[in-house]
Amino acid sequence: MKIAVFASGRGSNLQALIDASASGFIPAEIKLVISDNKNAVALKRAEAARIENIFIDPDKFNTKREYEKDLIELLKEYKIDLIVLAGFMRILTPTLINQYKNKIINIHPSLLPAFKGLNAQKQAIDYGVKYSGCTVHFVDAGVDTGPIIEQAVVKVDDSDSAEDLSKKILKEEHRIYPEVIRDIVNNKIIIEDRKVIRK
Ligand code: GRF
Repeated sequence: MKIAVFASGRGSNLQALIDASASGFIPAEIKLVISDNKNAVALKRAEAARIENIFIDPDKFNTKREYEKDLIELLKEYKIDLIVLAGFMRILTPTLINQYKNKIINIHPSLLPAFKGLNAQKQAIDYGVKYSGCTVHFVDAGVDTGPIIEQAVVKVDDSDSAEDLSKKILKEEHRIYPEVIRDIVNNKIIIEDRKVIRK
């Protein structure tokens, strides 16, 4: 199975996946890293790991559709089977999603369906929840609404800032994302309507 990772920023999840692939924990190759941000640390991490890394400038395209059509060409060229979003800051549209149905996954720093969208950790702190966490899910046409594959819980302490909580959650992200991808590669994840069954 060939994997592409889409990332816009620092790429700590990408790094966890690169390490998990290099150690054999994920029995698949990360073939391609794509970013919409030419300064993304993620691109440098890919470069250091000798993984093909490509910046696709969204400003060069008139519409999202054209941008995604270009992405699809690239994904086909590299024979990508699974798209892993790791801090990719663009919302995908049906142009791409329909071509890769149930083959795109995302990680979100909250226990969905709570705190969708941006700054999920701050939303959780501001709301006053006592537990939060992260969610790995398939990507559908909504924002953070796709079928849930796995979640991990962290305790929110009274003194936690959004940054403290982000750090705790990130640790769990780096644990569950490689585990889920390993299971997808090993065909252990089955999707039936909205429900995901993990064998
Ligand atoms: C993570 O918190 C992830 O849950 C969210 O974006 C952040 C990406 O962090 N989708 P990194 O770039 O992987 O360090």
